[in-house]
Amino acid sequence: MDKVGGVILAAGRGERMGAPINKAFLPLGDRPLLLHSIITFEAAAAVDAYIVVAPPEEMAFCRALLAPYGLQKLVAVVPGGLSRQESAAAGVRALQNFGLVAVHDAARPLLSVELLEGAVKRAAAAGYPGAAVVVAVPVKDTVKMVDSSGIVRETPVRDGLWIVQTPQVFQRDLLLRAYAEAERDGFSGTDDASLVERLGVSVEVYRGSYDNFKVTTPEDLRIAQAILGQRARRCLVHDRPIPTGGWGAYNVRAGNQDGAAPGSLAPVLPLRVGIGYDVHHFDPERTLILGGVEIPEGPGLAGHSDADAALHALMDSCLGAAGLRDIGHYFPPGDPRWKDAPSLALLADVRSILAAAGYMVCQVDLVIAAETPHLAPYIDAMQQRVGAVLGILPGNVGIKATTTEGLGFVGRKEGIAAWAVATISG
Ligand code: CTP
Ligand code: MG
Repeated sequence: MDKVGGVILAAGRGERMGAPINKAFLPLGDRPLLLHSIITFEAAAAVDAYIVVAPPEEMAFCRALLAPYGLQKLVAVVPGGLSRQESAAAGVRALQNFGLVAVHDAARPLLSVELLEGAVKRAAAAGYPGAAVVVAVPVKDTVKMVDSSGIVRETPVRDGLWIVQTPQVFQRDLLLRAYAEAERDGFSGTDDASLVERLGVSVEVYRGSYDNFKVTTPEDLRIAQAILGQRARRCLVHDRPIPTGGWGAYNVRAGNQDGAAPGSLAPVLPLRVGIGYDVHHFDPERTLILGGVEIPEGPGLAGHSDADAALHALMDSCLGAAGLRDIGHYFPPGDPRWKDAPSLALLADVRSILAAAGYMVCQVDLVIAAETPHLAPYIDAMQQRVGAVLGILPGNVGIKATTTEGLGFVGRKEGIAAWAVATISG
């Protein structure tokens, strides 16, 4: 299948919002508005990579804003143009080697993973050439054509009228041709589909969600905030088996969203805490890896993956904080996919699982009990690696090492134990 790329547009000025900064950078919930769409693109298995389009004068600010999140599929932040059309064309042109592109307005922060994946899959099914799918919802209100003096000229029949949203997904070559022809003819449209329609290509509508509205004015921001708060109080549904696609996979989603199967309701607090514990016994034949860092002094630890007891405890604390199952459930020990797997990659997967469930890790704390080797020289590197994968600053990764003064299995140098606590928000 063709590779699928996303273009997230955040190069507007947000004039109708009336805020001193671009609305894409305004806070919504616990993160900038733009981050909501980005996290959806990160979590959507159907999207391979994406580009963010930012205002040319805010490139450095945008890059600095995104840096702490350790985004895995972000290819680049590129400068946009004066109009949405110019920005979209710049993004699609910069996204090379992709068969399909999904163009999305950062101003629609409540896009769900299901909707994004559904639209992409519909476009992929349409195949080559000419895939063109727009997300849209039927108009609920009566619409009137009004002239410049305020007189109603026409009342179009409501049946068949749809409000178009994003994402809009196209075969990339087709969309590039549409931009080129619009530029040549001096045509400007307020969405990408209108440029493709001019080429005589059929554009298919994919049923969207009324939640996926565009945040334009201050009251929209308040509505988005209220919907987010309501979603946070809903519980999680564990209803997807882990796909065989590898470490980018995820298998949970927020329940009860528009168009999703309803789950049972349970309160979810804004801040949640989880605990994890793991033990591995020594195996001198193996390389010792703890906190994602290779420790040449060894001895190594026995296990199916790289046996990084510290990261295993950490992953369980993160999953536990979200009320999810343990790592054995997501990465079964007998599964050949996880044989010798680097636990840092599994941790990245855990982060995607949490993101798909609507959670972000805030801070973690670990204790590693090891009589040998001496771990102090490696603590900084562990903090850096874990922070980068979780998208948090190293200062939010606590790691301590201790001996047990010769007591117990750790003291007898039979193995290593680790405990972790994680705080997450959603
Ligand atoms: N957009 C863009 N480049 C532009 C104009 C708009 O990337 N030159 C993006 C916006 O960042 C937004 C989306 O297109 O995500 C939809 O545009 P709109 O809601 O109109 O946003 P703004 O143009 O930022 O807002 P306003 O029109 O009120 O200034
Ligand atoms: Mg605009």
